[in-house]
Amino acid sequence: MNLAILGAGFISRFYADSLVAQRRKDKIVSVYSRNEDNAKMFAGDYGVPHYTSALAECVSKPNVEAVIIGLSNDMHLPAVLEAAKAGKHVLCTKPLGRNAAEALQMLRAVEAAGVTGGYLEDLCYTPKFLKSLASVKSGAIGEVIWTKSRETHPGPHSDWFWDKEKSGGGAIIDLGCHCAEISRNFIGKNIRPTEVMCWADTRVHPIDAEDNAVGLVKYENGAIGQFEVSWTFRGGMDLRDEVMGTEGTIWANNFLRTGFEMFTTGKGGDYIAEKAESNSGWLFPVGDEVHELGYSHMFTDMFDAIDSGREPAETFYDGYIVNAILDAAYRSAKTKQWEPVQIEDWRGGTYVKEEKNLSSYNEEYYLIKEEVLPNGEKKSIIKHKQTGSIEKR
Ligand SMILES: NC(=O)c1ccc[n+]([C@@H]2O[C@H](COP(=O)([O-])OP(=O)(O)OC[C@H]3O[C@@H](n4cnc5c(N)ncnc54)[C@H](O)[C@@H]3O)[C@@H](O)[C@H]2O)c1
Repeated sequence: MNLAILGAGFISRFYADSLVAQRRKDKIVSVYSRNEDNAKMFAGDYGVPHYTSALAECVSKPNVEAVIIGLSNDMHLPAVLEAAKAGKHVLCTKPLGRNAAEALQMLRAVEAAGVTGGYLEDLCYTPKFLKSLASVKSGAIGEVIWTKSRETHPGPHSDWFWDKEKSGGGAIIDLGCHCAEISRNFIGKNIRPTEVMCWADTRVHPIDAEDNAVGLVKYENGAIGQFEVSWTFRGGMDLRDEVMGTEGTIWANNFLRTGFEMFTTGKGGDYIAEKAESNSGWLFPVGDEVHELGYSHMFTDMFDAIDSGREPAETFYDGYIVNAILDAAYRSAKTKQWEPVQIEDWRGGTYVKEEKNLSSYNEEYYLIKEEVLPNGEKKSIIKHKQTGSIEKR
């Protein structure tokens, strides 16, 4: 597939590393940056035949089939509208919008243009995530009760992230978008997120937006998706997910402590891994960052989806739901109350509560818990079906 890439910054380089590596058949044929020198440098680094500082020129080039957006958050909406106007498939980085209203406009624009809107949520394509999701879907951990997703690092690398107007917020919009979508996948995209309770504060950096937050997203079936985000965490980038189900548990550490450890006195290269704070001492490098962060699987799914006319696993609709969840988180952080997730266009199901099949101990009692004690004795804790009294056997 022939691609145009909008932006020549941090994420566009990760995307290009994924796209031009491993003898892929997809090609970047044009790159846009508002700064022509950056566009030229990017074109040189990745062998891109055309570069420009005019966005419309880039997306409307006849040989461009799909547009990849790696621009600051405030530019996602205008860039999507431009790509949709040119009739090009459009793949946009996270967060889709600065809020749900922007995301909905983008969703409607691609749908009206009849082009694919792919949401570049790479953390829903990491090898560990894909395996975990397959296990959850196979029923290996039973009903998902609670998920926890954490993304914390010492803060972003460009000025515009720190400007609330341009980015749409702080750590919640920047990092919470990943966590919300990770949890949503595990709990089930068909299950409606209903309300959010969130704490957020600006503890360290001299900014208007929050630099730390914790939130609970409640789903219609009772499941909770917890997110933990920070722009003040020290020690690198901590990406961890947990899924707690009635039949099992998943813990995934995606980045910081993956089993690869290295000591160096500091001689040699400076770059260890994204947001690593040190290049000497004991370090936690990442083997193949592009792959381990999900970019390779993500683009494979996006282009296969476009080629075969199906939806990719992560769409603009998903980006819109994530924005709606985060809007509720921002409202809750202010009101200190559970705030409803306002979804104008819900396309999932309606949850019907099922009668729980309580496990019986015998005709008279339910079984609450069984455990073998250190002395070998087996203890059963049971509840009388009529009186409700709790006893042990
Ligand atoms: N894991 C991920 O998926 C991931 C990681 C990092 C960043 N991102 C996202 O990628 C996007 C870009 O972030 P980045 O880290 O590459 O930032 P960056 O600052 O390194 O690059 C931003 C690019 O946008 C351009 N830009 C900024 N303001 C502009 C404007 N007003 N008009 C035109 N161009 C403008 C810059 O020139 C640059 O090319 C953001 O939406 C961010 O949230 C995603």
